[in-house]
Amino acid sequence: MEFSFETTKDTPLGNTTPIAAAKFIQLGYSPADFYEHFPCFLSVKDLARFQSFSQCYQMTLGVAGHMAEVGVFRGAVSMFLAKLSLLYEPHTTTQVHGFDWFREPTQEELLTIPDGYNYYEPYQRISELIGVQGLQRYLLLHRLNVVTELEGFFKEHTHLQFKLVFLDAGDYDTVARCIREFWPRLSTGGVMIFDQFNHEAAPGETRAVKELLPPDAVIRTFPHGCMPTAYVIKGEMQAPTQTTTGWAKVRLAG
Ligand SMILES: C[S@@+](CC[C@H](N)C(=O)[O-])C[C@H]1O[C@@H](n2cnc3c(N)ncnc32)[C@H](O)[C@@H]1O
Repeated sequence: MEFSFETTKDTPLGNTTPIAAAKFIQLGYSPADFYEHFPCFLSVKDLARFQSFSQCYQMTLGVAGHMAEVGVFRGAVSMFLAKLSLLYEPHTTTQVHGFDWFREPTQEELLTIPDGYNYYEPYQRISELIGVQGLQRYLLLHRLNVVTELEGFFKEHTHLQFKLVFLDAGDYDTVARCIREFWPRLSTGGVMIFDQFNHEAAPGETRAVKELLPPDAVIRTFPHGCMPTAYVIKGEMQAPTQTTTGWAKVRLAG
């Protein structure tokens, strides 16, 4: 018998409806309206997603290291983190490292990719978007296949250390390679965020997390959000106490 699990909870609640999306166009807003007045259009689910990244980022203020996103696509999360860094730590050396192969799917792959799930972004376009906003010193793109090339990248750049790592290229090989390479380079108190842990869309992600993270790692979720589904604070060793803001007090090993 076939079952649906987490996807059955993916309801329209909090998403932009097709009627609303059509109306946004029909009402004649300019492109500037969409970014200058973005809360008028932003869905609650997308708001929750970026709030989750923002909360993780706030937790890492004062922890040494850079930030990384694996699976950059258009760059929304990488650029969001770079802008947070510009806002909150303009005088530090913190940078965002975005890893993606920016590769067009083959004709064969296109046959198996469902509608709306083609995550191809031309490297040239995202580079220009970063450049025109003057973000090139804050956000560095690394165009590589993380499964086969990440290990070599870190052998070449041995000093790199991270405080926040977001993994969003969710098959087993990708997540496993990323945990192997990033976990030892994540500072204690730093955060590793998983887009689809415990989600039927990416069973390999759950398997890699369970196999490769320390068995006593506390895997947390975002009480308000859908994806990312989970995060781990490196070194967290004790169940948290509830605070008045709903956020956890964390005790760290060492
Ligand atoms: C789901 S999309 C990322 C979405 C993005 N994080 C966001 O929030 O908008 C997955 C990305 O992973 C990249 N990717 C998948 N496998 C990869 C690999 N082996 N090496 C590098 N990038 C990969 C794809 O090119 C794609 O851009």
